[in-house]
Amino acid sequence: MSLLSLLKPNGKNGFGYASTAEEVTANLDLKGKNILITGCNSGLGQETARVLALRGARILGTARSVEKADGALIDFGSAHEGYACDLSEPKSVYSCVAALKKDGLKIDAIICNAGIMALPKLQKSHGYELQFFTNHIGHFILVTGILELLSDEGRVVMLSSAAHTAAPKVGIEFDNLSGDENYRPWRAYGQSKLANLLFAKELSRRLAGTKKTANAVHPGVIKTNLSRHMPAVANAAFAAIGPLFLKSVAQGAATQCYVAVHPDVAGISGEYFADVNIAKPRSDADDAVMAKKLWQVSEEIVGLL
Ligand SMILES: NC(=O)c1ccc[n+]([C@@H]2O[C@H](COP(=O)([O-])OP(=O)(O)OC[C@H]3O[C@@H](n4cnc5c(N)ncnc54)[C@H](OP(=O)(O)O)[C@@H]3O)[C@@H](O)[C@H]2O)c1
Repeated sequence: MSLLSLLKPNGKNGFGYASTAEEVTANLDLKGKNILITGCNSGLGQETARVLALRGARILGTARSVEKADGALIDFGSAHEGYACDLSEPKSVYSCVAALKKDGLKIDAIICNAGIMALPKLQKSHGYELQFFTNHIGHFILVTGILELLSDEGRVVMLSSAAHTAAPKVGIEFDNLSGDENYRPWRAYGQSKLANLLFAKELSRRLAGTKKTANAVHPGVIKTNLSRHMPAVANAAFAAIGPLFLKSVAQGAATQCYVAVHPDVAGISGEYFADVNIAKPRSDADDAVMAKKLWQVSEEIVGLL
């Protein structure tokens, strides 16, 4: 247990920084629930799948290939389905949407967990900066494509990050979505995570009047494969301070599990959670005009692909 786990107090709900996914779902019976998790083959996504399966949910897990998804879920006991969904390739996301629709299961929670971070050099897909495209546009196509499958009280959970604060001061740089101007790895990652947050907020507004919800989460800072693009020396430092300052994977998966399935969160929408409690994001995360514009621009991008 890290030093911070010992120092940080729990929130009003009795959960906090140190809570694990198993703890926040203890005593919940998720039999009959279908939960879609992107990036189920690694890190927080795999732990989320393991714990929600342990509580009885059927896991619909996506990875870049169906073999990868099935392979990751095989040990988790309860019923599960693997789907191929490469978020950086729209064709693959559309195939996943079609496969989910064909299977026709109502989905009780969609946990948009997959992501890439801090690519050292500018990379693109379809002309757009790769973190924005993978983390935001890929999930935009997926979620909007399967909204009709979301159950009446279904929940959408977007993995954002405290790193959304590293996004450009203006917020989303709509005139630089290619990343060509002044590319910086953390700024681009921050922008993609701000986009995840704005998407959750805008979706929540669009779901108003229903019992369906959309929220965003920061899972904490956890050593996973996410840091694979960071320099070796930074990874070594990350590993060294881990025991003192980082969350474990079990703790890192707690907030998304809580927001996806805990009864306390029923009806709560448009919020940002961290350490298993509602938290305050950067102020422009509540900019409804920017969120609406991001939705419209995303539709335009997707329409032209
Ligand atoms: N770990 C942290 O400290 C931290 C902090 C804040 C937010 N987050 C967020 O938490 C989420 C999960 O991260 P993690 O720490 O669990 O990282 P991880 O272990 O690297 O897992 C990321 C997952 O995303 C998948 N993925 C990446 N690119 C993809 C693509 N083009 N198509 C489909 N799947 C793709 C990966 O698949 P492959 O294995 O095939 O690449 C993997 O399954 C991310 O959204 C991240 O931004 C993490």
